[in-house]
Amino acid sequence: MIALRGQLTRLPRHRRQQLRRIRRRPRWGNLRRRTPLSATFGFDRGKPIDRFYLERFLAEEASAIRGVVGEVAGSLYATSFGGDRVVRVEVIDIDPHNPHATIVADLSDADEVPAGAFDCLLVVQTLQYTPSPEVALANCLRSLRPGGTLLLAVPALAAHDDKERPEDDHWRFWPGGVVSLVSQVAPQADSRVVAYGNLTTAIAFLHGLAAEELRDDELARQDQRFPVVVCVRITLPGGASGG
Ligand SMILES: C[S@@+](CC[C@H](N)C(=O)[O-])C[C@H]1O[C@@H](n2cnc3c(N)ncnc32)[C@H](O)[C@@H]1O
Repeated sequence: MIALRGQLTRLPRHRRQQLRRIRRRPRWGNLRRRTPLSATFGFDRGKPIDRFYLERFLAEEASAIRGVVGEVAGSLYATSFGGDRVVRVEVIDIDPHNPHATIVADLSDADEVPAGAFDCLLVVQTLQYTPSPEVALANCLRSLRPGGTLLLAVPALAAHDDKERPEDDHWRFWPGGVVSLVSQVAPQADSRVVAYGNLTTAIAFLHGLAAEELRDDELARQDQRFPVVVCVRITLPGGASGG
């Protein structure tokens, strides 16, 4: 051992550092596997980590969820976060078989998305399914009334959802790209872009662990190198709340 230590000290500094790093072996435990611990993003274990983050964002922006609200696929977030402020919810989906859909529309098609219809539009984890996010984003903004708000959540990191066709799953979004997208499509609008996630939550989310399985401090830390989800608020000028 002493002889080995002597040999190590004779090595160049960078090589010694490299060897020390290699000796810090990971303890994989049951994470050394080919399939995630949950096949449903963690819904079967608790609250999926991306949902924990995007719901935090929706809670912060809840005052914008009011009046006539559009939401893609269902009405969960409009009713949970809008409460009494919501007059009516329209459920938008490209899927004509969605029994909750009141508007069957492709967000990519300007002729299908109603113009000037909503005080608030919630588009959660959907933009990745549009071939040209800038086109879909422009159509979403067109669907707002003056002073209306678009609340958007897009995945930075996520497995493909088996409920959707792989060929429809086009994008993952990075915070800098989202900022560029927003300034390209809505240069005049008031906007806020927030990225959530860190190395621990990114790994946990890929394995489908639920937020309840992590500590509060692990969820709270935000590290821009490892975003899990990017959330966006875009508010149009004008209207009663617009200014
Ligand atoms: C993964 S779900 C996410 C939406 C849901 N709000 C949620 O939070 O889980 C995706 C939904 O978007 C719909 N969708 C996919 N592409 C779409 C498009 N281009 N226009 C409108 N809806 C679309 C799908 O049919 C599906 O109901």
